[in-house]
Amino acid sequence: MVRTRIGCDSLRSKVMSAQDAASLIKSGTTVGMSGFTGSGYPKTVPLALAARIEAEHAKGNPFRLRVWTGASTGPELDGALAKADGIEFRLPYNSDPIAREKINRGEMEYFDMHLSQVAPMAWQGFLGPLDTAVVEVSGILPDGSLIPSSSVGNNKTWLDRADKVILEVNRWQNSQLEGMHDIYYGTALPPHRVPIPLVKPDDRIGETVFRCDPAKIVAIVETDAPDRNLPFSKPDDVAHAIAGHLLEFYSHEVAKGRLPASLLPIQSGVGNIANAVLTGLVDGPFENMTAYTEVIQDGMLDLIDSGKLRMASATAFSLSPDAADRLNTDMGRYRDKMILRPQEISNHPELIRRLGCIAMNGLIEADIYGNVNSTHIMGSRIQNGIGGSGDFARNAYVSIFMTPSTAKGGKISAIVPQASHVDHINQDVQVLVTEQGLADLRGLSPKQRARLIIETCAHPDYRPALADYFDRALKHSYGLQSPSLLNEALSWHQRYIETGSMRA
Ligand code: COA
Repeated sequence: MVRTRIGCDSLRSKVMSAQDAASLIKSGTTVGMSGFTGSGYPKTVPLALAARIEAEHAKGNPFRLRVWTGASTGPELDGALAKADGIEFRLPYNSDPIAREKINRGEMEYFDMHLSQVAPMAWQGFLGPLDTAVVEVSGILPDGSLIPSSSVGNNKTWLDRADKVILEVNRWQNSQLEGMHDIYYGTALPPHRVPIPLVKPDDRIGETVFRCDPAKIVAIVETDAPDRNLPFSKPDDVAHAIAGHLLEFYSHEVAKGRLPASLLPIQSGVGNIANAVLTGLVDGPFENMTAYTEVIQDGMLDLIDSGKLRMASATAFSLSPDAADRLNTDMGRYRDKMILRPQEISNHPELIRRLGCIAMNGLIEADIYGNVNSTHIMGSRIQNGIGGSGDFARNAYVSIFMTPSTAKGGKISAIVPQASHVDHINQDVQVLVTEQGLADLRGLSPKQRARLIIETCAHPDYRPALADYFDRALKHSYGLQSPSLLNEALSWHQRYIETGSMRA
């Protein structure tokens, strides 16, 4: 019973405990772990590794690792390793609160990069050698090929690049995941790169399994542990209003002939608002939709259930525990409507541009010119990371950013004179939407954008102060292309740091 997921006789001899597997990982090395937005991450080896690191630290021995993943993982990985002070360097996306604190205290180096670029950069050799891959799979086939789990992320690259491989075979993962994945092995480095032959979101261009040299597999650990995702908050009035503005915008674009009636493949970012917008589309008039996106959230399941979403392509699930139950109970029905791919393909700029995705991402703050900060609170504290937002925003058919107009109970305006950190320059931000309204910024100059953003998106409590700033900038700015008062532009942030509120 215990070994039913390992179909390859010659690999069974490599089964061992998580502790024994963890002992094969040496301090100072680089480990590539599976995992993407709380799904498909290894659950027992990182915990055993964290216990070992704590024991070494108690003896006075330094033990820290460089950790690469697909994106955010779970408390058993990032949380446990960060708590044990076992991570020297981390890439790419993180949402674990303990790791976040360590990064913001300057105790962990964090390279926040575009998710589509992780695998290419690893191949190009820019990130250094990869010693060990620790990858969760949902099974091993008789020929030794690996059935991927609930996320694909960078696993193909880790399995190919690592000197040694540790597998966690997780029986909790649904056995019907087999066949759902599309692992493309056609990527190459310049000058040998060729076009990726995907022209529709539902095209299959690869294999359903990972290949892995059996000689590199040093340990197999059997697990039976759930993915740990957090529930989404129930959409509130703000989320409903944002979804409403977007639905109206889409209807307008369809009426103008700029979008087809089934829209174009949608991409929906991480977070509560993004999920609420998907749920809003359930009540919209658009049928036969597709998604070419990074993660499949609860809202995507709702859309599939409503019959409005024909299929979704992504690299991972990012589901609440309830939605994960729903998926697992009814996997037979859902699996034909979903494809999971490596993140370099789900987020590939060539494909996003070709398909003409509608990108919808959350933000921390936007300035009056439409430059967007997705990552840093008050310009210096990382929240999560850029994730795939840059991959999609720059290459989308239409790039939409959405946010409540205020944060922290109204003490912070999400629309500010100048963004305290910029992830997405104004050229990559075509539509900005808050519960107050939607600003279509396409074809507008910076001054035209500023007027529209202040009037349409800013909260009424902050609108007069933003208009006043802009009027004075028009009179006193050094130049008048993007008027700015340099000694005042970031004063709202400084005031928040000093007084706990951006209000004057
Ligand atoms: N100033 C200070 N804090 C802010 C803020 C602002 N302007 N805007 C949001 N926050 C805080 C919220 O208060 C909340 O803090 P809390 O956890 O202490 O309550 C936190 O940031 C998250 O905000 P929330 O309103 O819950 O938004 P969300 O869940 O929709 O997430 C982002 C918003 C920007 C954090 C999220 O979309 C993200 O990480 N984006 C970057 C990656 C990305 O876009 N990936 C998708 C690519 S496919």
